[in-house]
Amino acid sequence: MPTFSIVSMKGGVGKTSVTLGLASAAWARGHRVLVIDLDPQANATMGLNVEKPLFTINDVLADARPGIAVEAVEHSPWGKKVHVLAAERALEHRNTVEGRHSSLRLRASLASLPRSYDLVLIDCPPSLGELTRNALSASDCAVIVTEPGFFALRGAEQAIEAADVIRSSTNPLMRPAAIVVNKARPSVAEQRMRIEELRESYGSLVSDQIIPERNAIQQAEAAGMPIHAWDSPAGTELAGIFDALYDELTPAIRTMEKQR
Ligand SMILES: Nc1ncnc2c1ncn2[C@@H]1O[C@H](COP(=O)(O)OP(=O)(O)O)[C@@H](O)[C@H]1O
Ligand SMILES: [Mg+2]
Repeated sequence: MPTFSIVSMKGGVGKTSVTLGLASAAWARGHRVLVIDLDPQANATMGLNVEKPLFTINDVLADARPGIAVEAVEHSPWGKKVHVLAAERALEHRNTVEGRHSSLRLRASLASLPRSYDLVLIDCPPSLGELTRNALSASDCAVIVTEPGFFALRGAEQAIEAADVIRSSTNPLMRPAAIVVNKARPSVAEQRMRIEELRESYGSLVSDQIIPERNAIQQAEAAGMPIHAWDSPAGTELAGIFDALYDELTPAIRTMEKQR
């Protein structure tokens, strides 16, 4: 199953928003999507409108028996094909190494998930701790999110280095699929320069889909709604961008599966 980790070293750059935007693109197409919320802040869980989950990914990782994750899957009110492994505050305790195979707990727990998901998205916390290592060890691809600011290049570099560490240890087939620039204001010359810098360093890995800064993102998130259902010009604009990003990412996976 195509599994993407959405990563960055910084908080607030838009990991959760990109996760929810891609989940929304899957929802709009009637695809089956599973969102795994690996951030103790549980923003993706809230954006997907999952309240009081019976079990969370914290329970899953604490247990870590092969295939246990399937028992904690919740359904999002977005629609019957949108499933969630919810987060909770206590997930913080799983961000440290526990034993030798600590970073493989998530991968093991996912073993028995139904193969019918079109896409699995893992929303990561803003650090390279054990939770992110678990995410990358369980993924086919990493999607790196960045803002077009001064530290963007360094942040992207760190994320790619982190992915390389996982490749050389637990998950040799995982690779970066895209660097996504979020919260862009194309009128700002400084930002255009930073995006150029990123392109010089990472070429086509930098997605053509640049996500603009729009209040509609926050509004849809606060309402627990998919951006594709947010009825405003900005909502429509963002939905189009996430559709294009979804299209950009899914063939990458197909090519990769063929290479296996
Ligand atoms: N393109 C955007 N335009 C406007 N606000 C955004 C955009 N992307 C994210 N935000 C807002 O910025 C804040 C941080 O984004 P979030 O996705 O939670 O970042 P992260 O998951 O990396 O911490 C949230 O309030 C979110 O609604
Ligand atoms: Mg987040």
